Formats: sequence, C-alpha cells, structure tokens
Amino acid sequence: MSDNIKGLQGITAGQTAICTVGEDGKSLHYRGYSITDLANKGSFEEVAYLLLYKKLPTQQELDAFKKRLAADRALPKHLINVLELLPKESHPMDVLRSGCSVLGSFEPETDEHDGYAITERLLSLFPSMLCYWYHYHFDGKKINTQTDAPDIAAHFLQLLHGVVDPLHHKAINTSLMLYAEHGFNASTFTARVCAATLPDFYAPITAAIGTLSGPLHGGANEHAYDLISLYANTKDAEEGVKQKLADKEKIMGFGHRVYKTHDPRSDFAKILSQQLADERGDATMYPVAERIEQVMWDEKKLFPNVDFYTACVYHFCGIPKTLFTPLFVFARTAGWAAHIMEQRADNRLIRPDADYIGPGALDYVGIADRG
Ligand code: COA
Repeated sequence: MSDNIKGLQGITAGQTAICTVGEDGKSLHYRGYSITDLANKGSFEEVAYLLLYKKLPTQQELDAFKKRLAADRALPKHLINVLELLPKESHPMDVLRSGCSVLGSFEPETDEHDGYAITERLLSLFPSMLCYWYHYHFDGKKINTQTDAPDIAAHFLQLLHGVVDPLHHKAINTSLMLYAEHGFNASTFTARVCAATLPDFYAPITAAIGTLSGPLHGGANEHAYDLISLYANTKDAEEGVKQKLADKEKIMGFGHRVYKTHDPRSDFAKILSQQLADERGDATMYPVAERIEQVMWDEKKLFPNVDFYTACVYHFCGIPKTLFTPLFVFARTAGWAAHIMEQRADNRLIRPDADYIGPGALDYVGIADRG
C-alpha cells in the first residue's frame, strides 16, 4: 500500500463550503475571504461569526455576538468542581477535553440549547476553564472568570496575567484567526466522522480536541518551542538541526501535508514574533528560530508551518508552554463547529473500506488443544 493511501493524501473525502487550503500551493480562504485580509483587517470574533453564520457580521451583529460571548464566561459550579479534581499533572489539553465532555452532561444539547448556543458557550468557557484550572493548581487561587474584557484574546490574557498588554492582545487575536479553520485537517475530519454518527454536539468537539493534542497536529507548537529552546545561539542551532536531520529526526513546526511551497499563516506569526522579540529585547530566541528556518530551507526545502513561529509568539506573550495547544482549541472550536453543522446538514455515515492484509481462513481450535 502506498503512503498516500495510508495517510489519505490527495483523497477527496467530502465537500465543504467553509475553507480552501493551499489552492495554489500556498493560500488559505475562509468562506471565500483570504486569510491575509482577515488577519490584517479583522478580529477573531468576526472570523468565528463568519465560520458559524456563513457571512461577515455587520457592526450590529458583531456587537451582539461579542455581547453574548462576554456574558457567558462564568464557570458553572459543577465544572469548577471537576477542574479542581483534575490532577495538577494533567496536560491542559486533557483539561479542555474533559471540561467539554463534562459540560455536555450538565448542559445537554436541546432544541433551545442548539449547536450555535453550545459553540458560543464553548468559545466563552474554554479560556475560563483553562485559566481556572491553571491558577487553582499552580498558584492556589480560585479566580473569578467573569471578566469584562472586550474579546476572547483579552479575556484570556486578563485571566492569565491580570493585565492586557496591547501588543500581546494583537498577537493572540491574530493567532486565533490563523488557527480558526483549516479544511479537512485531522481534528476536523475526526469531528466530521464523529458527527456523521449523529451524536450530540459535544461528542465531535471532544473527539477533535483529543486529535488536536498530538505532536503531528496542534501539539507541534509545544514541540517547536522545545526545539528552539535547545539552542543558546545561532551557531549551535545550525549545527544541532543539521545533526537532527542527519539522524532522520522530524523537525517540529516544519512541513505540511497540503501546502507545498509556503504556509501563509507563518508570515503573520513570524512578523508578530519579531515585533514581540524587539519589545522584549530578545537577542536569542528569534535569531535562533530564523536560523533554524534557514537551515531547514537550505537542507530540505521545508518551510515553517503556523506552529513554528507561533511557539515564539506565545512564549514572548508570557504563556506557559503547555497552554500553547489549548489556545489552538479556543480558535479551532469555531471551525470544528462549522464543519459539524455542515456535516449534519447533508449527512451520510462516513465508513471507508480497508484492504485486508491479515491471515486467510483459519480453523478454530478448542482451547485445550492449542499448543
Ligand atoms: N522535518 C524533517 N523532515 C520532514 C518534516 C520535518 N518536519 N516534514 C516532512 N519531512 C520529510 C519526511 O521525512 C519525508 O521525507 P522522506 O520522503 O525522505 O522520508 C517527507 O518530508 C514527507 O514527510 P511525511 O511525514 O511523509 O509528510 P506528511 O504529509 O505525512 O506529514 C506533517 C505532514 C505535517 C505531519 C509532517 O511534515 C511533520 O511531521 N511535520 C512536523 C510536525 C508539525 O509541524 N506538525 C504541524 C503541522 S501544521
């Protein structure tokens, strides 16, 4: 079997009106709008509205959407109890996966509390869950998660740091737009396969969070940070990465299944990373990252994907490494929800075939006669 079939590479597995990825090897559009325009001129809330409600919002619609999201930030008591019970050693992705699942038991989907209401609730509550769990276990504090921050990026920063630095706010808001949607990627495809069996709305989101946590998908931003942090200067970075390539190691934050020449999201992450490095007076991490990018291009013709420079962005914003991938969840919830709704609207069970490569027909031998 070829590697293409193994990874379903190049195989069309459905239709979508939500997103195009890498049409010319390097572009990305959400419902027809280029990521370049959205990330330069929009906000995460506009993007989330576009993905969910299929159009860019008017000012009035955006204000109402943001108001609904802002009103929904307080954690219900039962969820607080669970967050306190989850061990400090849990990975924060497990915390969000568990939190989502628990919420599904206490606030089940109904005709009134439908997919739209659940999505808005999750968009509001994921930052609250994460920061409550984090402060409770690492600082011994029970925080009030109902902030009056104007948007999700500010809400998260307010909860994590108690203040909202304007450049950090811009960086997080942009990164959420970049992470919001990406076609039939592994976690979204998981969500669609799950949604196609017609469970409640929480099941596919919970499944998608699990899929996103792996290092070949969303977890790559944490691993990219580990890689960049290994090196104290550009010379060590160059030698170290060349050695890893010689040892046939994968370099996290590089390569992509669909983009063949460039990941357009990486440009934004790189610029933000440079701005933040300048602000902090960083003379190590950003130059090291740039040198790794150069080596990867020279040696393998591989380009950084969104996760590589986003690792620097998040680090410069003072975000602990294990919270990087959960930020991806805050954003991709909008994309997953749009896909679950699209799947439900024209559903058929997703059930592919497989080529059987096991043994032929065997005779059953009673247990007493087995050697
Ligand atoms: N570092 C080193 N080599 C890489 C590489 C990387 N990050 N990404 C791809 N390659 C090489 C592979 O070794 C392979 O080379 P070979 O043909 O000589 O064996 C070739 O490129 C194809 O790689 P493959 O893993 O089969 O491609 P894929 O389409 O199945 O995987 C990714 C795509 C994203 C999973 C892969 O590029 C990867 O593992 N990247 C690192 C993890 C990451 O950043 N994930 C986030 C994606 S947004």
